Amino acid sequence: MVIGVPKEIKDHEARVGVTPAGVKALTEAGHTVLVETQAGAQSSFHDEEYRHAGAEIVAEAAGVWSRSEIVVKVKEPVEREYAFFREGLVLFTYLHLAPLPELTNRLLESKVIGIAYETVHDRQGTLPLLTPMSEVAGRMSVQVGATYLEKERGGRGILLGGVPGVAPANVTIIGGGIVGTNAAKVALGFGAKVTLVDVNLNRLRELDDIFSGRLYTLASNSYNLAHATQEADLVIGGVLIPGATAPKLVTRAMVSRMKKGAVIVDVAIDQGGCVETARPTSHSDPSYKVDGVVHYCVTNMPGAVPHTSTLALTNATFPYLSRLAGMGALDALRKDAGLAEGLNTWMGTLAHRGVAESQGRSFTPPATLIA
Ligand SMILES: NC(=O)c1ccc[n+]([C@@H]2O[C@H](COP(=O)([O-])OP(=O)(O)OC[C@H]3O[C@@H](n4cnc5c(N)ncnc54)[C@H](O)[C@@H]3O)[C@@H](O)[C@H]2O)c1
Repeated sequence: MVIGVPKEIKDHEARVGVTPAGVKALTEAGHTVLVETQAGAQSSFHDEEYRHAGAEIVAEAAGVWSRSEIVVKVKEPVEREYAFFREGLVLFTYLHLAPLPELTNRLLESKVIGIAYETVHDRQGTLPLLTPMSEVAGRMSVQVGATYLEKERGGRGILLGGVPGVAPANVTIIGGGIVGTNAAKVALGFGAKVTLVDVNLNRLRELDDIFSGRLYTLASNSYNLAHATQEADLVIGGVLIPGATAPKLVTRAMVSRMKKGAVIVDVAIDQGGCVETARPTSHSDPSYKVDGVVHYCVTNMPGAVPHTSTLALTNATFPYLSRLAGMGALDALRKDAGLAEGLNTWMGTLAHRGVAESQGRSFTPPATLIA
C-alpha cells in the first residue's frame, strides 16, 4: 500500500499525521510511505528522521496525493487540497463535516472514502481519537492558568502551589471527564486546592476514589457553582454534553462576583463554552478581560504543543492506519464496527447520520455500504 503524509496547510496547524516511528512500522510491514517535505518540521520531526525511518520525501503536495492510496492528515482538507481528491482514495483525518457542506460535496463528487477521526468509536462506545486531544488540553489548561495568574499577564499575582506559610490557589474545575480529570491531576501536582464540579454523581464517586479524597467534589448546580467560582483563583471549564453546545453554567453575574485578576480557562469553548462571557480566541491573541477576570478561550489548545499533540494523536490513530494499510479499507471497516462508524463518505454516498442531519441530506449507514 502507498501511504501519503502531506504537510498541513490549515492556518496555525503544526501537527502531522504520521511520525517517523509510524513510518518505520509501516515500511517494515512492506508499505511505501510518501512524506511531503517539511510535513513534520513544526512538530519537531524533520525530513532526515523520516528518511532515516524509510520514508520517501516528496517535494510537492500534489506528488504525495496523486501517488497515494491512503492519505493520512490531521485537519480537514482546505480548498487548495480539493483538487487532489479522486475516486477510491482513502482519506483518514479529522473531517468535522457537519458545518462544511462544500467539503462534503467535493468528497462525494470525487468518490473519496472519507474516514473521520472524530466519529471513530471503540468497544466502550467512547471516541478514542478525540481523547488524546482532551488529555493534552486538560493538562495544558492548568499550565496556561498558572501563567495567566502571574501579574505580568494580568492575573492576581498568585503562585498556584503557594509556599510554606502561604496558602495555595483555589482551582475550580467544571466537568470531571477527560479534560477535567487531567486538569485535576496537574493542579494537584502543582499543590493547588482543587474543587471539581460534575453533574454525574457516579463520576464524582470515581474521582473521589481515584484521588483518594485529595480533591473536593461538588454536585453541579447554580448554587454550588456560584460559591465555587467566587472562591476560585482559577476556573477551568471542561463540560461536554455530546452532540450539543455547552450549557452556560457560569453566568455573567457569577463572573462579576469573581476575584479581580482571577483566571478562567474555558476549554469547552470549541462547543460554545460553559462560561457566559467566554468567546473563542486564537493562539495569536489568546486572552481578554471581563470585569477584571482574565479569560483564555483558545479553541485548539493542543496546537500550542504540536510535538506532544502529534505523538498523542498518532499513538491513537496509528493502530487504525496500520489495519487500513494491512487489510485494505473495505476489510478493515468490515472487521471493526467502531472504525466503520468513522466512515463519513463512501464512493459518492454520505455515510454518517450526524453529518446528514446537520446538512439536511439523506445517508446510508456504513454497515449497508460495506456489506
Ligand atoms: N479548546 C480545546 O482546544 C479543546 C481540546 C480538547 C477538548 N476540548 C473540549 O473540552 C470539552 C470537554 O471534553 P472531555 O473530553 O473532557 O469531555 P467528557 O465527555 O470526557 O467530559 C465532560 C464532563 O462534563 C460533565 N458535565 C456535563 N454536564 C455538566 C454540568 N451541567 N455540570 C458539570 N459537569 C457536567 C459530564 O458529566 C462529563 O464528566 C469538550 O467540549 C471538548 O470538545 C477542547
